[in-house]
Amino acid sequence: KKHIAEVEAFSSTSKDEIEAFRIKYLGKKGLLNEFFAEFKNVPNDQKKEFGQVVNTLKNVAQEKVNDLTESIDAAQVASGIYDDLSRPGEPVELGSRHPISIVKNKIIDIFSRIGFNVSEGPEIEDDWHNFSALNLPEYHPARDMQDTFFIQTDPDVLLRTHTSSVQVRYMENNKPPIRTISPGRVYRNEAISARSHCFFHQVEGLYVDKGVSFADLKQTLQYFTTQMFGKSKIRLRPSYFPFTEPSAEVDVYWGLETETDYKMTKGTGWLEIMGCGMVDPNVLENCGIDSETYTGFAFGMGIDRIALLLHQIPDIRMFSENDLRFLQQFKNAD
Ligand code: PHE
Repeated sequence: KKHIAEVEAFSSTSKDEIEAFRIKYLGKKGLLNEFFAEFKNVPNDQKKEFGQVVNTLKNVAQEKVNDLTESIDAAQVASGIYDDLSRPGEPVELGSRHPISIVKNKIIDIFSRIGFNVSEGPEIEDDWHNFSALNLPEYHPARDMQDTFFIQTDPDVLLRTHTSSVQVRYMENNKPPIRTISPGRVYRNEAISARSHCFFHQVEGLYVDKGVSFADLKQTLQYFTTQMFGKSKIRLRPSYFPFTEPSAEVDVYWGLETETDYKMTKGTGWLEIMGCGMVDPNVLENCGIDSETYTGFAFGMGIDRIALLLHQIPDIRMFSENDLRFLQQFKNAD
């Protein structure tokens, strides 16, 4: 009876203490088993009472152990630390590169293999680097080709409309031979739609040395499209840019081998992917390079546009919406 009182008084929030308690009473060599073994020695007239007390002790002890264990578990569940080692772990979500970065890195990789380095410059530019040095003096009508965002009211401070500005900076600070590509974000004040945005990404390239020719330009572009799109055919259409003369627009048709294949494909086939041309001598002179000694070619392409084509993405706005369902699809693309 003394033990029953002891059992009823016991309380603990430690699993170890509860286990020790269980072993003491209910274990193989515990008190209860001792009492049961003792039973045969108890005088007959006391057997009944002895049996009842021992049974009560057993029930009370068992209940005590169950109750205390349950309340510990409940407290752990409530506080969130439930040490069930069989529970599945929290998944660790890996991020993925943005499709624009994937395509940008691919372009950098292709040009670095033929000796082009990477140059960068500021997104907030001045008039000289974005326009004037590039043969676009003030009031030149071609400035309208690039709808410009000006910073507040100062017409000299603007968001660059192309990364040609980086090439101006590069020519100002480096002597030929120059082989550089300039990837980066550019801004234009255009209506936002599925096809165009007020900001997008470009890679522009520049090669200046003695004797650089239009043939070098074409061969470089052919090398690029083959690396980028697989076996491909390019077409150069005469065009106009203030900073190049002559200038051309480059169309690409990739993955097809003969003229007949082109006709069998749906759609118009040729896709415009970049502008290019021989650097205008005025531009070289503006940047301190002797145009009698040196010639150069330049090209510029939109990364977003190429990423849309490569990944069959229907809307350019998806690149900047940060929708994980979209971004996660590029986990294994590179
Ligand atoms: N800077 C031009 C643009 O953004 C692209 C270009 C670069 C064209 C170099 C010709 C030569 O539209």
